[in-house]
Amino acid sequence: MMPLKISVRSVLPAHESGDLMVIGVPAPGSASKKNSNSSLNGLTGLDDIDSALGGALGRLLKKEEFTGKKDQQVSLSTLGRLTADRLLLIGLGDMGKAGPGDVRTFAAKASRAANADKAKRLVLGVPKGFEGHLREVVEGLEMGGYRFTKYLTGDRKPKSELAQVTICLEGALPTDAAARVSMGQTVAAGVNLSRDLSNEPPNVLYPETFARAAQVTAKAAGLKVQVFDFKEIQKRGMSLLQAVGQGSEHKPTMVHFSHIPAGSSVNRKCLVFVGKGVTFDSGGLSIKPAAGMGEMKHDMSGAANIVGLMSIVGRLKPNVEVHGIFAAAENMPDGNAYRPGDVWGSLDGKTVEIINTDAEGRLILADALAYARALKPDLLVDNATLTGACVVALGNSCSGWYASNEATADEFQSAIKASGEQMWRLPFLDELKDQLKSDSADIKHTGDRWGGSISAALFLREFIGDVANWVHCDIAGPAMGDRVRGWDPKGGTGHGVLTFLDLIERAARDAGGSASGVLPAGAKRAVKPRAAKAPRGASKARR
Ligand code: BES
Ligand code: MN
Ligand code: ZN
Repeated sequence: MMPLKISVRSVLPAHESGDLMVIGVPAPGSASKKNSNSSLNGLTGLDDIDSALGGALGRLLKKEEFTGKKDQQVSLSTLGRLTADRLLLIGLGDMGKAGPGDVRTFAAKASRAANADKAKRLVLGVPKGFEGHLREVVEGLEMGGYRFTKYLTGDRKPKSELAQVTICLEGALPTDAAARVSMGQTVAAGVNLSRDLSNEPPNVLYPETFARAAQVTAKAAGLKVQVFDFKEIQKRGMSLLQAVGQGSEHKPTMVHFSHIPAGSSVNRKCLVFVGKGVTFDSGGLSIKPAAGMGEMKHDMSGAANIVGLMSIVGRLKPNVEVHGIFAAAENMPDGNAYRPGDVWGSLDGKTVEIINTDAEGRLILADALAYARALKPDLLVDNATLTGACVVALGNSCSGWYASNEATADEFQSAIKASGEQMWRLPFLDELKDQLKSDSADIKHTGDRWGGSISAALFLREFIGDVANWVHCDIAGPAMGDRVRGWDPKGGTGHGVLTFLDLIERAARDAGGSASGVLPAGAKRAVKPRAAKAPRGASKARR
């Protein structure tokens, strides 16, 4: 998908031309609508349009009982009386209650409507109060227009794609509008990249090709990247990654992106993100039922998020150290596949008894986490399509997360709020730890069926060593959309990237750096005093 050509003006939409006009309409009486003197039941900005249509709009809104309630929509043909062929009004509800996610969803609906209408040029009317969310408007436009059409040919190939948007702000044009637009486009491109990778079929995207895609991304984004092949994985002692991956013709790989800002590293924060990259999860010898097995091509969504996130980081160049790591493997049954009953070592050193080869994600993550902890992160975050149990608990639209301490949980919760993604905290219930006791090894990798997401998290906790601040995010539900939802498409969603990015932006703001285009000039904060710490280069594990 090409980036949209976006212009932003503080004008009424009726004065702009395009193929489709979409206008966001707040509910009357909502924050921005007080003192309205419009004739259209308090809906400002529509008077010009209504008179151009000879009063037809007002009559239609009355008939349809359109009042700007959230998610209400009215669409009509303008019969050539306006500069656009079609007009779509989208209710925004109470503007006082609208968050970043609502703004993104509104803009995403506009993009989707444009694509459905085969409109190439969109005029988007953005009500007063949303101009501060210009970045989210742009994110929504770019993410809502996402379609995975790479493998469609002939009639199935979409003939038209939204290309140009004029954003008409009812409020004043922010002075840094251009920076916000560019930020929104960079972020959305990263999320869309994550979706593309997640949607790739498993005969095309497997550990080697995934690593190659990561290298291409790193080059384009100006990031350092290391790729470990099967030999290197064995040499380094990542035996769990080896175990999971060795039953496939496509041997496992491991990828490590780094963004290390220039200048002194003393007192600079280091954030490390880790992802599960199972390019296809057949279950292995503990094979999955046939129904729905194809969905397991998305089982590398956590790793795809790392690629998307790092592509953004490479472009924003935040003033914090950021690493992105993923382990990639294909989980297949084969003469060389690992088995239930096996005992394997790990990069950490602990031995693990294999119970069910379908619980492969936690195994490859265990080695990836043990690798990541050598970077001595101030914050370690992993994300994985880890358990069906988490989908049972929270459904298809919400991920589950676990934090190693309350301060880290607070930080993560703030990032969730800022991003608008749906994530719900789950508890590390220590009493479930007994389920991981093994007779033949230090630990086994699965517990009971009940509380399956928690026992998986408890297993991972065994591999984080002395990392104090860790968040584990089980994205099994929302990573693979069963339908269009908010700004997300059906299929790969990139769920998680926005929250992880917010954590990075937060750390960069705290460091007082020129983190990202979103920081208004003069908003730099003083560097917070931090406890003295050895320079990062001092650690031998650091590359
Ligand atoms: N990739 C699956 C988890 C999953 C399930 C993701 C549904 C998305 C949708 C994972 O590898 C898996 O198979 N987990 C098992 C673990 C069990 C064998 C302990 C599960 O959740 O059933
Ligand atoms: Mn599995
Ligand atoms: Zn899996």
